[in-house]
Amino acid sequence: MSQIIDGKAVSAQVKEEIRLETEKLKQQGIEIGLAVVIVGNDPASQVYVRNKEKACETVGFNSYKYALPEETTEQELLELVDKLNKEDKVDGILVQLPLPKHLDDKIIINNIRPDKDVDAFHPVNVGKIMIGDYSFLPCTPAGVMELIKSTGTEIAGKECVVIGRSNIVGKPQAMLLLHQSGTVTICHSKTKDLAKVASRADILVAAVGRAKMITADYVKQGAVVIDVGMNRDENGKLCGDVDFESVKDKASFITPVPGGVGPMTIAMLMKNTLTAGKEHHGVK
Ligand code: GUN
Repeated sequence: MSQIIDGKAVSAQVKEEIRLETEKLKQQGIEIGLAVVIVGNDPASQVYVRNKEKACETVGFNSYKYALPEETTEQELLELVDKLNKEDKVDGILVQLPLPKHLDDKIIINNIRPDKDVDAFHPVNVGKIMIGDYSFLPCTPAGVMELIKSTGTEIAGKECVVIGRSNIVGKPQAMLLLHQSGTVTICHSKTKDLAKVASRADILVAAVGRAKMITADYVKQGAVVIDVGMNRDENGKLCGDVDFESVKDKASFITPVPGGVGPMTIAMLMKNTLTAGKEHHGVK
């Protein structure tokens, strides 16, 4: 039986550290602000945005929510981004994705000031991640790193397998593991004999987006298994990419869904916002 990694507890700890630092900054007259932009009525996005606002409240940041209608034009959204880029009280800007189909994520992200891009999605920040000179860590991969750290597992020299190659998770995840000297393999839909490759991993990160796809056959005995997936199973119940029941007796550590990576993503967003705010106010 593996140990379950409690993402809620680790994220609460990270947020508490941020809250204490934010309180100290307030005593110096410095307030931290995050602008969250949501376009349209996607129900999942609305839940995510609400959780981000709640987290801001927990750590003591000001949050500014901009809920725009579905039919918002690119010009209108760019005007808002430009305004937020210039707004002094806004240290971080987050545009919730996915945007409605008529809007191009790339164009919008490319217009966020890199030093306010707390998602680390802007090409400048993506480039910095590549060379290991990051101001902002991409939130989900950074959260995964914190969870691995919480298990006391050394990454250097370990076989790390990341399943999924998205720009938001898979690719930056591989970079963060590589920067800690893991031997990293990225798998994807064209990988031959995925189970064989995955079962090499001492540290396995699943970010495929397919409910319960990773069964015990994909997991080496004693591996650390991190599940980034957020899917619905056949009964409409929230589940990850990992078949928890099948893997839990084989892994040494495993994250649950919900309550694993999810809460960490938001905690790392708060961390990036604090970093942006400190930079913006010239605090070391
Ligand atoms: N939609 C799903 N995850 C994310 C995220 O981390 N950031 C943004 N901006 N949108 C998302």
